[in-house]
Amino acid sequence: MSATKNILITGADGQLGQELQLVLNSDSFRIFALNKSQLDIANKVAVNHFFRENNIDVAINCAAYTAVDKAESEAQKCYEINDTGAKNIATACKERDALLIHISTDFVFDGSASKPLKEKDKTNPLSVYGKSKLAGEHTITSSGCKAIIIRTSWLYSSFGANFVKTILRLAKDRDSLGIVSDQIGSPTYAADLATGIKKFITHKNLAELAGIYHFSNSGVASWYDFAIAIKNIKQLSVQVNPINTSEYPTPATRPSYSVLNCKKLKQTLAIEIPHWQDSLAICLSKIEN
Ligand SMILES: NC(=O)c1ccc[n+]([C@@H]2O[C@H](COP(=O)([O-])OP(=O)(O)OC[C@H]3O[C@@H](n4cnc5c(N)ncnc54)[C@H](OP(=O)(O)O)[C@@H]3O)[C@@H](O)[C@H]2O)c1
Repeated sequence: MSATKNILITGADGQLGQELQLVLNSDSFRIFALNKSQLDIANKVAVNHFFRENNIDVAINCAAYTAVDKAESEAQKCYEINDTGAKNIATACKERDALLIHISTDFVFDGSASKPLKEKDKTNPLSVYGKSKLAGEHTITSSGCKAIIIRTSWLYSSFGANFVKTILRLAKDRDSLGIVSDQIGSPTYAADLATGIKKFITHKNLAELAGIYHFSNSGVASWYDFAIAIKNIKQLSVQVNPINTSEYPTPATRPSYSVLNCKKLKQTLAIEIPHWQDSLAICLSKIEN
């Protein structure tokens, strides 16, 4: 690889795509940050054309179909992006010996675990979205390209739409909110994940790091805990009440427990990952409301 790495960011207008553009803003990288209209990963011809024209060293696939509930009625579209799209990028990377960094999800698990999930633990997605993301993982692995697959969870950012923004918006319109307290995971600030991805890219043995990794902010929470933390940090007057999943039915079934064990990634990169409450405070300081 040359001294200046050519890096493709797909899905560049998404939460992670935007955070990565901030974190990778340095002379060591030449960034090709492309949104859906500039590069549709489901379009194999367009992907191949882009890779032919540009000498990419690392492709970071942030493009995804992420509408978890809508996916239940749009399975084909969801798979076209999360599986076929991933395959198109992986195949192009393989042909040009580029490294792929792909993002996957805690929703590949079914929630039956009672301790933080390791990379090799049994997957069993409950939703179309989770199944399509697992299919994408398998497609990438079997493509033979050099790939780092990072599963993350409960992603939020000051960019885009997410749980944090939803709570801030609802708090303006309502006196009280019922928030699910029986789903447990780890909220993850996309800026922290972007920093972790940069650590991979700058690792001296990058080419030898292929494999699956877990990355979440440290600590665990229910969605109710997450909402209470937002309320407290922002000093919102809205009343937040715990409810059960059964009181808030959604088209997609979500895992009741999806805490990720991030030891492998932390050891590989020699990093600590911030606690979710500390990162939430940083993110909220960037959101005006
Ligand atoms: N959000 C979470 O809670 C969460 C949790 C765990 C894992 N993840 C994973 O983390 C990654 C990043 O998520 P995120 O929250 O940053 O997602 P996001 O904000 O929804 O961004 C995804 C981006 O991909 C774009 N996109 C959709 N189809 C595309 C296509 N065919 N070609 C190119 N771009 C396309 C979307 O554009 P449009 O908006 O115009 O469709 C959007 O800008 C994804 O792989 C996701 O599955 C997310």
